[in-house]
Amino acid sequence: MTEKINDLLRRVEEFKPKAEAEIEEFRIRILGKKGELTALMEEFKTVSPELKRELGQKINKLKSRAMERVNELKASFKNTPASSSSIGDMTRPGTNDTIGSRHPIAVVKNEMLAIFERMGYTVADGPEVEDDWHVFSALNFPPEHPARDMQDTFFIQRSPDILLRTHTSSIQVRTMETHKPPIRVVCPGRVYRNESISYRSHCMFHQVEGLYIDENVSFADLKQSIEYFVKEFFGEDAVIRLRPSYFPFTEPSAEVDVSCVLCGGKGCQVCKHTGWLEIMGCGMVDPNVLESCGIDPKKYTGFAFGMGIERSAMLKYGVKDLRLFFENDVRFLNQFDSAL
Ligand code: DAH
Repeated sequence: MTEKINDLLRRVEEFKPKAEAEIEEFRIRILGKKGELTALMEEFKTVSPELKRELGQKINKLKSRAMERVNELKASFKNTPASSSSIGDMTRPGTNDTIGSRHPIAVVKNEMLAIFERMGYTVADGPEVEDDWHVFSALNFPPEHPARDMQDTFFIQRSPDILLRTHTSSIQVRTMETHKPPIRVVCPGRVYRNESISYRSHCMFHQVEGLYIDENVSFADLKQSIEYFVKEFFGEDAVIRLRPSYFPFTEPSAEVDVSCVLCGGKGCQVCKHTGWLEIMGCGMVDPNVLESCGIDPKKYTGFAFGMGIERSAMLKYGVKDLRLFFENDVRFLNQFDSAL
């Protein structure tokens, strides 16, 4: 009889139903009125008195374990309603999965890079935590010169040599230091300036920098390249004008204006009734910069330019507040990704 009890206990433990209905069948087969356990109880009546105590305990244990096991198995099916035995309630309303979208800064950046890639530029990258050499000194910012005040810099832990880059022009330097001309790169990236946050400025924003160095590169090449970019980015009707300006790393330097994308140049609130919008800085790379980066200024010339991604996105899409790009409100963000 001990053997029969042990055998039944083993089968109780090993029972693995595939569907919930099998559990009830199992319960009836073991615990039901005509079940195996009932039969064992009948047999128990006939055992000799000296074995009764030991066998009685065993049968009781078997019975409670069998009941426990049935309950456990039933509960496990309740916890997995979508089991293969059930496809759930087909009349329930469906759920909507929200699909993400690319951030407008990424969308605009990719569009800018694609235009330059069509012109033969490759994309270069560099660190956001930089040293003074790559952000200022190699770019012809003399020490203690007021030019350094042009950009309010975040320095790292009282080390005046380590800082958050204030412009992507630092990637120009890194590229020139490691590559021989001809060089034709665009450098997108995040930059930091210690500025108060308002609808038109932020302590963090994005730029795209460009650099072209070869023999006989001229200012006419610079103007033509920028004109091509502007027409691709803002549309065929856009026209540009160059105004003389100053940057330590270019000579001559210029500021690029594009005809107002909203009024087409007639004058409106956005262009402050001038008909023009300022979009980038540019110029011929200063020979001092070429020399600092190990490129022979007698043999090579080049041009560079740099622009803000947020600013271009605001002009292109008529966004009036720069802070919207950093607030992560999906109602704003998902308006820009045409891939949706
Ligand atoms: N680095 C400048 C800035 O952050 C932008 C710029 C101007 C970049 C002229 C250039 C350039 O490469 O040639 O304001």
